[in-house]
Amino acid sequence: LEYEDGNFERKDYATIFEVTNKLYEDNLKDEKLQYLLDRGLTLESIKKFELGYAPRSDKQIAHLRDQNISFEDCVDIGILAIDKDKLYARQIERITFPIRNHLNKLIGFGGRTLKNSKDIAKYINSPETKLYSKSKVFYGFNHAKEHIFKKGNIIVVEGNLDVIMMHQANLNTAVATMGTALTKEHIIQIKKANARAILCFDGDIAGKKAAYNASILLSQSEIDGGVVIFDDGVDPADMVKNDRTDELYALIKKPINLVKYALNYIASNYDLTNPIHKTKVLKECVEYLKTLNPIIANEYKGYLAELLNIATYHIVLG
Ligand code: GTP
Ligand code: MN
Ligand code: MN
Ligand code: MN
Ligand code: MN
Repeated sequence: LEYEDGNFERKDYATIFEVTNKLYEDNLKDEKLQYLLDRGLTLESIKKFELGYAPRSDKQIAHLRDQNISFEDCVDIGILAIDKDKLYARQIERITFPIRNHLNKLIGFGGRTLKNSKDIAKYINSPETKLYSKSKVFYGFNHAKEHIFKKGNIIVVEGNLDVIMMHQANLNTAVATMGTALTKEHIIQIKKANARAILCFDGDIAGKKAAYNASILLSQSEIDGGVVIFDDGVDPADMVKNDRTDELYALIKKPINLVKYALNYIASNYDLTNPIHKTKVLKECVEYLKTLNPIIANEYKGYLAELLNIATYHIVLG
């Protein structure tokens, strides 16, 4: 429990979150529910992940007032926001994805619009609060945690819907970074679980780049794992929705090793038939390998030599 400085007013953030979450869940019906079913989600998944629909702002504020909930507390936890002296709900007419921490406590919401317009953000996530930090949160960790520890692997995806569809396909170690890069704080959680990390980011340029950055961080942290590459424009949610789960299972069984992925990614930015380019790739790859544990780095000398079609003695890591 938190106490406000000075007046010792009790703030039970958990209760406020649960009341709000219930309002959203009860409000998911008709075309809003149909949207999720059309995206391939089962009713079971919708219930398990507590998906909802945020009503108009005035309705939410009236509901909170009826429950004697302090608006100030709601602002503190990112349920309400103040703009030009006016109070409004952060999630308005959006599909809601409650975000729970590892202790299963609500800490924020993600919200997806049903509108198809370039002028509005597709997703609005919780702001940074005392409870919510986007560089720490793994969406779905509350459901995935025990499986991650038991199976010794963690599947990292980009989006909320990817997590839900992965779990629906029994890939229950999936969590999402919710569109942001994998951070050192995420790595700490993976380390604690002693898990292999399997990156399943979107098959677009942004996804491949994010997988590269994550591969570097993970390999530097001596975490084992690999990268799954999807066709351009395809993400894990699409794979499950389009009955490509067998393909997905096969890909996850044989991901590209993290270090090899990083080396390949570096090479992909150059023309290897050009000798000058080749020396640049070699330099960049060696620089990366030097940031790894030398014992690990040494294991990839042969791979890099083959990739560049050069002799291993040209690869000097020491
Ligand atoms: P769907 O159409 O719902 O499947 O989304 P998508 O697959 O196009 O999502 P995308 O791959 O673009 O993004 C992955 C995740 O990044 C989402 O689940 C969100 O958490 C986050 N994200 C996406 N778009 C936005 C945005 O406009 N603003 C913010 N803050 N986050 C976003
Ligand atoms: Mn997108
Ligand atoms: Mn994406
Ligand atoms: Mn996506
Ligand atoms: Mn998607």
